[in-house]
Amino acid sequence: MYQQFYQRYLDAHQGKQHFACHSHYFWPDVTRQAMLDYWDDSARYADEKWSFFFDTVVPQNQQFISQTLNTGLPEQIVFAPNTHELVARLLSCLNFSKTVNVLTTDSEFHSASRQLTRLEETGQLACTRVQTQPFASFTERFIAQIKQQKWDMILFSQVFFNSGWVVEDIHKIVQAVEHTDTLIVIDGYHGFMALPTDLNAIAQRVFYLAGAYKYAQAGEGACFAHVPPGNGLRPVYTGWFAEFGELAKSRADEVTYACNGMQFAGATMDFCALYRLRAVFNLFAEQNLCVTTINRYIKQLQQRFLQLLDAHNHPHLNRESLLIDDENQRGHFLTFELNDEDTTKATSQALREKGILTDYRGRRLRFGFGLYHSIDTMTLDELKQV
Ligand SMILES: Cc1ncc(COP(=O)(O)O)c(C=O)c1O
Repeated sequence: MYQQFYQRYLDAHQGKQHFACHSHYFWPDVTRQAMLDYWDDSARYADEKWSFFFDTVVPQNQQFISQTLNTGLPEQIVFAPNTHELVARLLSCLNFSKTVNVLTTDSEFHSASRQLTRLEETGQLACTRVQTQPFASFTERFIAQIKQQKWDMILFSQVFFNSGWVVEDIHKIVQAVEHTDTLIVIDGYHGFMALPTDLNAIAQRVFYLAGAYKYAQAGEGACFAHVPPGNGLRPVYTGWFAEFGELAKSRADEVTYACNGMQFAGATMDFCALYRLRAVFNLFAEQNLCVTTINRYIKQLQQRFLQLLDAHNHPHLNRESLLIDDENQRGHFLTFELNDEDTTKATSQALREKGILTDYRGRRLRFGFGLYHSIDTMTLDELKQV
């Protein structure tokens, strides 16, 4: 149904079924023209290109993102090449003259978890990690920890990258945070453009991070944060872009910051990715394709895949090894937990040899679903030989 939009990538991978879109989504064809447009605009505007970008592609993307998340605050969106930069900038807001206390989970992506672990090694930061499993009680247990003490930062994912579990009660978690100076950071990378997400009620309170490499389908280099307005923060790790536009009031001898999301900006970056992102958003708008429709389609694909799988009685890949059974609690990939790491690696490799591309982490094998899959042509016949 939607394959026509991905013709170039599909042509380049004929005979393969790409089930790793939760990691790296194929790019729609329109992104190719977007890259050429970026080149042409760079040539046309030369020295003036930065103001041209800030007047066009930046606000257009801010508008799309803000609408998608229903924040009502497009000017509070700031872009960065990756989410790690944004996580590091947020951490730099904290007062390290005393031990910084962070509440997080045991299932955060490496961009946050590695940085937090390294800071822990310095002795200046203490991290409490709530286990995501058992999933059913996660929200309750996380909220119980929130109540334990005053936290400097609370950081958790909307959808956990190592399982696909969806934290449905984001609002309840946010409401449980009493201290207004606690930074609340949601890693929304596996939610953005995959699951209908309405941040309206919490847009004044949370930082929401995501990017374009996965479900926004525009590749690397276009990550963003929604920044809650009026936060008064002064990130120590700051770049000169953070001083663009109208500035927040400050003491004459202090470094100044923009009074919108640009407060969390870094410095010169490649805006080509933002051209690709805009092209994808435009494509979806032309096609009337909203996140609700996309999500419904992906869930249909997952159902079909599981039907096909049931017919196989495979010793490792089956309903018993499927980590999350309830599709309402699941993001856009299925995770199978196999007996051990060797079996997982061997299964993924055997699938790859048969043209079925997946990825795995430890004992967990992940199958992602994208708009370029089709219910009619999906097949698991190759599984007989795996
Ligand atoms: C949950 C999550 N957050 C963030 C990222 C990407 O992080 P970064 O933009 O720092 O490379 C990923 C990538 O796989 C992810 O799964």
